[in-house]
Amino acid sequence: MASILKLQNVLAATQNRLSYYFCLKYKIMKILLIGANGTIGKAVCKELAQRHEVITAGRTNADVTVDITKADSIESMFKQLKDIDAVVCTAGAAKWGHFEDLSEEDFYVGVHSKLMGQVNLVRIGKDYINENGSFTLITGILADDPVRGTAVSAMVNGGIHSFVLAAARELKRGLRVNVVAPGLVEDSVERIGHLFPGHRAVSMTEAARGFCRSVEGNVTGEVIRIY
Ligand SMILES: NC(=O)c1ccc[n+]([C@@H]2O[C@H](COP(=O)([O-])OP(=O)(O)OC[C@H]3O[C@@H](n4cnc5c(N)ncnc54)[C@H](OP(=O)(O)O)[C@@H]3O)[C@@H](O)[C@H]2O)c1
Repeated sequence: MASILKLQNVLAATQNRLSYYFCLKYKIMKILLIGANGTIGKAVCKELAQRHEVITAGRTNADVTVDITKADSIESMFKQLKDIDAVVCTAGAAKWGHFEDLSEEDFYVGVHSKLMGQVNLVRIGKDYINENGSFTLITGILADDPVRGTAVSAMVNGGIHSFVLAAARELKRGLRVNVVAPGLVEDSVERIGHLFPGHRAVSMTEAARGFCRSVEGNVTGEVIRIY
């Protein structure tokens, strides 16, 4: 009986591994993209959808509704979905303002949304996504090179970078986690370019390819800087 169970486990493991290599070879993954309607999300969706099945998620106008500031909303999103190979997040808010004017509550907006929202996607999602799956989070240049008014964004981005380094070492079942840190992207220059004096704008294709390096590559625990 014990040897039959052992054989069944070996067969199941082989089947998982074969389907993983099949996905890689034919590049068909089922990717959950949170924030797909946003400035960066649209570019990432366009790039990944050329080769994979992309399921969009967000608070509005998406295949699946989720609010990443709420752990129960994240849990119910994962419960609705099956066979997810990769989770990509291009969502997350953090309040801008001069440090002197920022209240404790202003900091918590970033903590609850961009920081814990993304940490919770990994913390909860790790029990739902496929073996050898991946998580790709988003931060930005402000972790290394903040501009005026970005104490909250810089703090939250730095926290996510450290989280990714640590979580990658402990994730089980071959799961990977990385974070893409783009500079100011071209499609945001008109709206917020004046807040980034002297910065180079990153093309939307360049930013989107940072996500491909994580989703389609084999790196883990990486901060993929695109600037
Ligand atoms: N734009 C840039 O130049 C740039 C550069 C580097 C880093 N970043 C960072 O990248 C992230 C995305 O930036 P973006 O400019 O693409 O923002 P954006 O245009 O405002 O898009 C954000 C997307 O996330 C979704 N979203 C927001 N809050 C959510 C929540 N609580 N739960 C689920 N979905 C949520 C939004 O859709 P719904 O409103 O429908 O939920 C939207 O699709 C931000 O964290 C930003 O700091 C931006």
